[in-house]
Amino acid sequence: MTADSLSSHNGSVRLIGLPVVSDPRGDLTFVEGGNHVPFQIRRVYYLYNVPVDSERGGHAHHELEQVIFALSGSFRIAVDDGRKRREYWLRDPRTGLYISRMIWREMDAFSQGAVCMVLASQPYDEADYIRDYNAFVQETERETAS
Ligand code: TYD
Repeated sequence: MTADSLSSHNGSVRLIGLPVVSDPRGDLTFVEGGNHVPFQIRRVYYLYNVPVDSERGGHAHHELEQVIFALSGSFRIAVDDGRKRREYWLRDPRTGLYISRMIWREMDAFSQGAVCMVLASQPYDEADYIRDYNAFVQETERETAS
């Protein structure tokens, strides 16, 4: 495992650096599904107007993969594979955090005016969420044993 990753039998997390084209007019970053992120992008959503004391996330997904960016401002993401927990600060629009299936995530410490953009591998499906932490850990243990 590198300093910037978390991986287990069940899931993995890693930072992804995107291309930047800089010139005197400003910086431009682009993302291609299946190239810069390891899935075809089926959904994009973003969080904004987030109160600075807000906590988001608090769930894992059975199948969904995501890459999370701070397009503006900053916030913290804690990720957990059922055994190990790790924290990342996102604050650079060129750097996304890839989160595979079966990773618990919690987000907080949003700066004033932060904008969080998420690229997702599937459309929204409530049935794909695991919202109970103990149920998540039990599921990771079942998968590890199988
Ligand atoms: P949720 O995923 O719990 O937000 P977060 O992980 O950022 O805390 O979603 C909050 C609500 O928004 C929930 O009622 C589901 C709804 N929602 C959609 O309808 N479509 C979407 O693509 C997402 C991400 C959420």
